Amino acid sequence: MSNKRVHDAKNEILQELTRYQTQDFSFTSGHILGSMCTQPHPIAKEAYMKFLETNLGDPQLFPGTKTIEQKVLSFLLDLTHAPTTAAGHIVGGGTESNITSMWIAKVLTGKREIIIPESAHFSFQKIASLMDMKLSSIPLTTKFVMDITKVKQAITPETAAVVGIAGSTELGAIDPIPELSDLCREEHLFFHVDAAFGGFVIPFLKRLGYDVVDFDFHLPGVSSISIDAHKMGCAAIPLGALLLRKNMWLDAISVKSNCVSTEWQAGILGTRSGGPVAAAYAIIKYLGKEGYTNLVKQCMETTLYTEERIRQVGLEVMMEPTMNVIGIRLSHPRTIVEKLTKLGWKVNNLDRISSIRVVIMPHVTKPIIDKFIPDLQKVCQESGEL
Ligand SMILES: Cc1ncc(COP(=O)(O)O)c(C=O)c1O
Repeated sequence: MSNKRVHDAKNEILQELTRYQTQDFSFTSGHILGSMCTQPHPIAKEAYMKFLETNLGDPQLFPGTKTIEQKVLSFLLDLTHAPTTAAGHIVGGGTESNITSMWIAKVLTGKREIIIPESAHFSFQKIASLMDMKLSSIPLTTKFVMDITKVKQAITPETAAVVGIAGSTELGAIDPIPELSDLCREEHLFFHVDAAFGGFVIPFLKRLGYDVVDFDFHLPGVSSISIDAHKMGCAAIPLGALLLRKNMWLDAISVKSNCVSTEWQAGILGTRSGGPVAAAYAIIKYLGKEGYTNLVKQCMETTLYTEERIRQVGLEVMMEPTMNVIGIRLSHPRTIVEKLTKLGWKVNNLDRISSIRVVIMPHVTKPIIDKFIPDLQKVCQESGEL
């Protein structure tokens, strides 16, 4: 092909891609109010592009990228007060971490029952189906957290693991992790904490002096933690981690690996891009604990502002926000979501608890909320919610 034809073909493809891209919602518009992800920081984007060709499934080819992965894990292990025996595994996000953790619990115990809260993320449905495991779903208290007395009653000789959530998908609620940790310790049970969202929020809320429930390896009964950098970590998608109290638990999910330059490979995926890992490292290093603390402070201030504005128009919130997630009680949440979508706002429908969810991520600012509230009020009035 001549240079001109190559140039034209490239332009045509890029234009086609742009046409599709313009159909997407964007975080920069500020109109995405229901996602737990946000726009990756510019430094994360740049780092991602730099490591596009790397493959962490074959780490001996990319020892430098492997070092970056270890540095990301070191930060996360330090953030969660992990002991020196601990290890981590980088994954694509909360779903993969939860699957990997339950895979480990199943292999270690040889058992198949998992005790989860009613508010557990739907990844646990996938786990049950994929690994032929049975879910025992525990009702919540009026504070939308796991009822510990019901957890005790649900334990059977077949229990492989108990799961608590530190920052529920629906409302950002934190289960009684310290009590669950004590219980699991007494009963010698594997205890997984799903902090996919809260893992990058709770440590910084603590630094800001908020009274927030402990969730990490500080508690001796906590066996593993899911934590996602592509949510409040402001890294690029996909980047999560499964953190394990004992590094030898990785052996439970390792297989002998032919045709790549390492002998054993742990986890679900084979080929894995180093791009998101480099992006996560860049933003972790750039922001540091101080930067994340400021980000969480900003999100919490906007959350409390939003809560107040919601109450002012006469709507009810599901619970006082523990983190930057707000549920708004409604009789017909689906209708409200549809009407808001027509006005260009993306919020989530929580049918299960008759509400809608707003997540105050870093791209959601007070001026955005000032535009959103009148639209919310209008659609609620039209639909008889107000
Ligand atoms: C608590 C929790 N766990 C797991 C997940 C799944 O994460 P991902 O969509 O990154 O797989 C989510 C997603 O929002 C979540 O909120």
